This record gives sequence, structure tokens and C-alpha cells, in this order.
Amino acid sequence: MILLPIADDKILFYSKSMGGLMSKEKWIYAIKETEMKDGEKKALIIDGQKIVLIRKGREFFALSNKCVHMECPLSKGELEGYIIKCPCHDWRFDIRNGEFLDARELKVPIYELKVSDGNVYLNIGGRIP
Ligand code: FES
Repeated sequence: MILLPIADDKILFYSKSMGGLMSKEKWIYAIKETEMKDGEKKALIIDGQKIVLIRKGREFFALSNKCVHMECPLSKGELEGYIIKCPCHDWRFDIRNGEFLDARELKVPIYELKVSDGNVYLNIGGRIP
């Protein structure tokens, strides 16, 4: 990871594994691990950002809850495997990387996430476009 100081108090960091330039990390508690069942989706607003949190087995995924087409809430979409289908016009996205299956260069932003002591935290500053 490479730190790049910019104006004001902001710092960007470059992380190849996370897909490039990101803003400063800002970890925020989201939910208790036990509050979600396997296959469940939850719409959350964290730090003013609309997020859909998804549980698949022991894994959690966090994406923007606004579809990149016309901003419909993905939390109301159908989940099949790692694919979520938007409820409005059936666009399908991979929850692991946010990619639109029909044009992979189009992505729903995703959030870095970690589980610690049974609590799920999101890196709100690290939204990955
Ligand atoms: S708003 Fe999601 S597919 Fe149109």
C-alpha cells in the first residue's frame, strides 16, 4: 500500500489488491454477525451511504444499495448464488466484486468488510468504484 498525501487532511492510499486509489480508511460498525441468516440481505444507511449487506454462509458482502442503472435498491433484488438481480430491470451483479454480468466494466461500488468478535465492520472510506 502506498500513501499519497493530498489537499486538506485527506490521504489517498493505493492498494493494488483493492483495485487502485481509495480514500482514507474509515471503519464503522454495521451489525452483529448473528443478526443475519445465510442468504439474507439487509438495507442499511451507514454514515449517510445506502448499503446492502449480504450474508452467504459465513461470508459477508457489502455493496452500494443503488443499482448503477437507475438507482433501484438492490436489497429488494433476488439473490442466486453470488449473483443479485436488480428488482427493477433485472440487471445482474456479482456481489463479490460488484460487476454487472453483461458488461463487466460497469460496477456497483463495493465496500471492504471485516468481522471481528462477532461484529461486522465496513470501511466506509474505502468504497471501491
Ligand atoms: S435500476 Fe437496476 S436494472 Fe434498472
